[in-house]
Amino acid sequence: MSSQSKYNKNVVIVIASIAATGGLLFGFDTGVISGAIPFLQDYFVLSDSQVENLTALGLIGAVVGALVTGRITDYLGRKKVILASAFIFATGAVWTGFAPTVTQLMISRFYLGLAIGVSSFAVPLYISEISPTKIRGTLVSMFQLLITVGILVAYLSDNAFADNNNLECWRPMLWVGVAPALILFIGMFFLPETPRWLMSKGREEEGEAVLRRVEDPSLIDNSMAAMRRDIAIDRDQEGFRVIFKPWLRNALIIAIGIMFFQQFVGINTVIYYSPKIFLAAGFEGAEAAIAASVIVGAVNVLFTIVSLFVIDRLGRRKLYFIGLSGIFVALVGMGLGFIVPGAGKWFLVVSMLVYIAFFAISLGPLGWLLISEVFPTKVRGLGASIGSLSNWGFNTLVVWTFYKMASGIAHAKDVVVPAGKDVSEVCHSCVGGVFWIFGAVALIGLVWGYFFIPETKGVTLEKIEEHWRNGGKPRQLNK
Ligand code: BGC
Repeated sequence: MSSQSKYNKNVVIVIASIAATGGLLFGFDTGVISGAIPFLQDYFVLSDSQVENLTALGLIGAVVGALVTGRITDYLGRKKVILASAFIFATGAVWTGFAPTVTQLMISRFYLGLAIGVSSFAVPLYISEISPTKIRGTLVSMFQLLITVGILVAYLSDNAFADNNNLECWRPMLWVGVAPALILFIGMFFLPETPRWLMSKGREEEGEAVLRRVEDPSLIDNSMAAMRRDIAIDRDQEGFRVIFKPWLRNALIIAIGIMFFQQFVGINTVIYYSPKIFLAAGFEGAEAAIAASVIVGAVNVLFTIVSLFVIDRLGRRKLYFIGLSGIFVALVGMGLGFIVPGAGKWFLVVSMLVYIAFFAISLGPLGWLLISEVFPTKVRGLGASIGSLSNWGFNTLVVWTFYKMASGIAHAKDVVVPAGKDVSEVCHSCVGGVFWIFGAVALIGLVWGYFFIPETKGVTLEKIEEHWRNGGKPRQLNK
């Protein structure tokens, strides 16, 4: 490697790390609320449905944030939008922590949700557009790495401040989010706009200067020429509606599809269900919850680090197939653990950890990476925001239907669920059945992936755009 490309690598690693703090905030702010809720509930004397509303409002905020800012990101630029989200993260963390009334708490959670929705597509998009092609996968996956770190930090913050003698201990739990928000805000302030966006706005000299600081010197001339060509073609296209043109249909299917499979293999229900699995394995109440958060959280972080090393070597397609096959086997194992009496409680725990590990090397990082790679510069913000919106929508749907699916299976088996109990307490095999449903989704995902997962490893964003323009199929990319 020449000394110049080494130098470039250090610069972009710093740039990507600062931007990826947006992932830490995503993980932290979605995770922190669960540990704060028991105290909030007592402090404000909230009913269960108010608690549900509080959680839902954060999610609705994320959907709205992703929905309204896609086009703004293409219009105003990636940097400004991330700066705005950092501002909301910082002020939102202060506000939620100080909230004097439950109404203010709800509004401030919605406000924070907006930042989560915005940063969840704008940050991977920013990193993707500023990364050297060769290590783009690794750098964008740092976003996923920091999501997993954020989830762990949220748990640690909840645990550090939990105090049964102080009902206001939820306030400092939430304030912890101010620190990463300030890092993101101050850091982003000094980072450049992406070369692709600058070029698309006709700011060619600035764009080229940034590209020269970050890209492999041997790729610069080709990339510049391709960008000029794309921009000239884009000028003749009709505005944002181009995203619905037939030549971009595959890009849309990829963005929505990858998020469908990322969520419908049940990641958030497995994470959410993990304390119960640890309970079943013989850990006691609070101990089970701690073990679930720490062990699951640590395996998630660890295997996301593994993905960073392999995503640009093995490529996206191989990782997808390896990951999803592992997820399928693990889900069959989890189902068996619940359905077969005496299958062994540790069998269940191991299956769950295998599941998390395979998710962390594949669907976790791949979702955010692909939505930031497959769209052309002109509508990359809008396209990525559609991917992110799908993620939040599917996430809500899966969590919302989990118990309904288990109850449906119970109903079919004539199992009576007494009032006040939930189905998982009386029918383990019903829960196992839901994991098998997720397993079936993983199988379908393998077939879907054969046709739709593109190999974007080592391919410039301009080449990807060209491939769609030429009517290329996803699986033919990089062939
Ligand atoms: C997903 C989240 C999930 C997290 C777990 C992310 O990629 O979008 O829904 O909770 O990974 O690590």
